[in-house]
Amino acid sequence: MPNCKTIAICNQKGGVGKTTTTMNLGIGLAKQGKKVLLVDCDPQGDLTTCLGWQRVDEIPVTLATKMHEIIRDDSTDVKSGILHHDEGVDLIPSNTDLEALEMYLVTAMSRENILKNYLNKVKPNYDYILIDCRPSLGMLTLNALTAADSVVIPVQAQYLPARAMTQLLRTVSKVKAHTNPNLAIDGILLTIVDNRTNLAKSTMDAIRENFGSVIRIYKSKIPVAVKAAEVSSKGKSIYAYEPNSKAAMAYADFTKEVLASGRQKERLRSADAR
Ligand SMILES: Nc1ncnc2c1ncn2[C@@H]1O[C@H](COP(=O)(O)OP(=O)(O)OP(=O)(O)O)[C@@H](O)[C@H]1O
Ligand SMILES: [Mg+2]
Repeated sequence: MPNCKTIAICNQKGGVGKTTTTMNLGIGLAKQGKKVLLVDCDPQGDLTTCLGWQRVDEIPVTLATKMHEIIRDDSTDVKSGILHHDEGVDLIPSNTDLEALEMYLVTAMSRENILKNYLNKVKPNYDYILIDCRPSLGMLTLNALTAADSVVIPVQAQYLPARAMTQLLRTVSKVKAHTNPNLAIDGILLTIVDNRTNLAKSTMDAIRENFGSVIRIYKSKIPVAVKAAEVSSKGKSIYAYEPNSKAAMAYADFTKEVLASGRQKERLRSADAR
C-alpha cells in the first residue's frame, strides 16, 4: 500500500488507555475495510494479551526477534511471526524479550531506526500500522516515534497531564529534529472520562485551555466503562464484546475521526501536487 499511515499511540504516563485505544482503533479501522497491522511495542505484552494470546512468553517469534534480525542484517521472511486476529487485524506480538532488546538497542548502529527499517518491509501490505508504546520515553518509544508518521496521545481525563505532556512534546520535537522531521501530532484523545464528576470536567477544560490551541483534541471522548476494562481479558474488541455500549460507540466515532483526517490530508496532498 503506497499510502500506509503509521501511528504511534503514545504517552509515557501509565494506564491512560494506550493499549485499549490501539486495539479498538485498529479493529475499528479493519471494520471500515482497512488493512491494519498492530505492533505491540511494550515488553509487558498487554496488547498481545488483550488480543487473546495469553501466554506471551511462549510465543516463538515476536517484535524482539524481528528487530534483532534487522540489527544483525539477517534477511528472513518478513511476514513470519505476524499473527492474525479473527476480527481482521494482524499483530506483531511482544513479550519480555523486548526488554532485553531495548538494552541491546543502545549499542546498535542507527539505533533509533531499527523499528522503522522493519516496518518499511511490511508496510506494502497495510493501510494502517498502529504502534502501542510502553509507558516510558526510552529507546523503544524513540524507535516508535521515528517509525511513525504521527502520534495519537491518549490522556486520562482524571488529572492534569501538564508535566508529562511537556516532556512528551519535548521528545517529539527532538525526534523531529534528529530522526523524523515529518512526525506530526494528530491529536489528544480523552479516555476513561467520567462525565459525572466535576474533576473530569475541570480537567478536560484545563487540557483544552493548555493544549487546545496547539494540539487538536478529538471530539470523541471515551467514557469510563466497566466493559472497556473487562474487555482486556477477553481477546475481543469492545465492538464484539459489548457492541451497544457507549465505549463501543465512542471508539467507532473516534475511528471515523481518524479516517476523516487521513482523507483530508490526502486531499491537501493531491491539491499540492496539482
Ligand atoms: N474507557 C475505559 N473505562 C474503564 N476502564 C478502562 C477504559 N479504558 C481502559 N480501561 C482500563 O484501564 C486500564 C489501563 O488501560 P490500558 O492498558 O489501555 O492503558 P495503557 O496506557 O496501555 O497502560 P500502560 O501504560 O500500562 O501500557 C486497563 O485495566 C483497562 O482495561
Ligand atoms: Mg499499554
